[in-house]
Amino acid sequence: MKALSIARCRSEKKLLALINEIFPSATPGFGENDVYFLATLDGEDAGFLHLILHSKGVLLQGIGVREKFRKKGIGGGLMDTALEFAQKENADILLKVKPSNTDALNLYAKKGFSIRKVTDAYVLHRKRCN
Ligand SMILES: CC(C)(COP(=O)(O)OP(=O)(O)OC[C@H]1O[C@@H](n2cnc3c(N)ncnc32)[C@H](O)[C@@H]1OP(=O)(O)O)[C@@H](O)C(=O)NCCC(=O)NCCS
Repeated sequence: MKALSIARCRSEKKLLALINEIFPSATPGFGENDVYFLATLDGEDAGFLHLILHSKGVLLQGIGVREKFRKKGIGGGLMDTALEFAQKENADILLKVKPSNTDALNLYAKKGFSIRKVTDAYVLHRKRCN
């Protein structure tokens, strides 16, 4: 059985390597409101989660799993981490997703998100659990 670990990460170098591989044109921020988690599988960097603390709640700014590690539950594990984080902050979560991104939409739907606004991207929302 492979060992999945998900933990807070403050190493910009590690995160940038991963983010640039998954989203080559991204320019992620590393300010005081940016919170990152790194998922490792058997010690290998496999995926990341980027949350931004916002006055209106938690913005899920980015989530990505390297291609060879997909469909093993890592994205689900990262989403559970986001939900736990928002729960602790007593905050709702918002995120944007392209309507064509069915892998991501399936994942978000499984985790209880619903579409709140439709623009060029969907804006999804998940209410805090009380
Ligand atoms: C969206 C994304 C993060 C999902 O990550 P992931 O690690 O593949 O997610 P999971 O493995 O938890 O779930 C994906 C699927 O694998 C299935 N799965 C999970 N564990 C599994 C296992 N052990 N064996 C077989 N299937 C499994 C899940 O049921 C799910 O199936 P579904 O798509 O039919 O619902 C990933 O596809 C990704 O990084 N995409 C590119 C970046 C991106 O688009 N990010 C979102 C931008 S908004």
